[in-house]
Amino acid sequence: MPDKTIAIACDHGGFELKEHLKPLLENKGLVVLDLGTNSTDSVDYPEFGKLLAETIADKRADLGILICGSGIGISIAANRNPAVRAAVCHSGLSARLARQHNDANVLALGARLIGVETAIDCVEEFLETAFEEGRHQRRVDQLG
Ligand code: RB5
Repeated sequence: MPDKTIAIACDHGGFELKEHLKPLLENKGLVVLDLGTNSTDSVDYPEFGKLLAETIADKRADLGILICGSGIGISIAANRNPAVRAAVCHSGLSARLARQHNDANVLALGARLIGVETAIDCVEEFLETAFEEGRHQRRVDQLG
């Protein structure tokens, strides 16, 4: 079975956290597709949210992580693509529920709102938790 690919993208507010998370993802055996941005120079989050969404839609990546200052703008941008279910998470529990109940395929983080340890908790739960299916599948199907 081919290695799982995870795409990661951010704006300037998320750059440092992205760089922090990348080796952690690689150490888990994931192929990391880094879509930028690649510095703290100011950029516009919609570009990066949409770019990551396209990699999910065309199956170049299985999962995604998006980071901006709050996690909000970049997740809104990604969620406009029907292939994406991006969830802004602020705790390991929210990330676990996003997988169990919502089959989220993109984790969105707010680098200015949570610390690195909480971000790592979110990533761990997002990667290790399975979708529960059952009644949740029916509801996810209704998302369109
Ligand atoms: C950039 O200053 C900031 O607005 C952005 O990172 C994000 O928080 C938007 O939702």
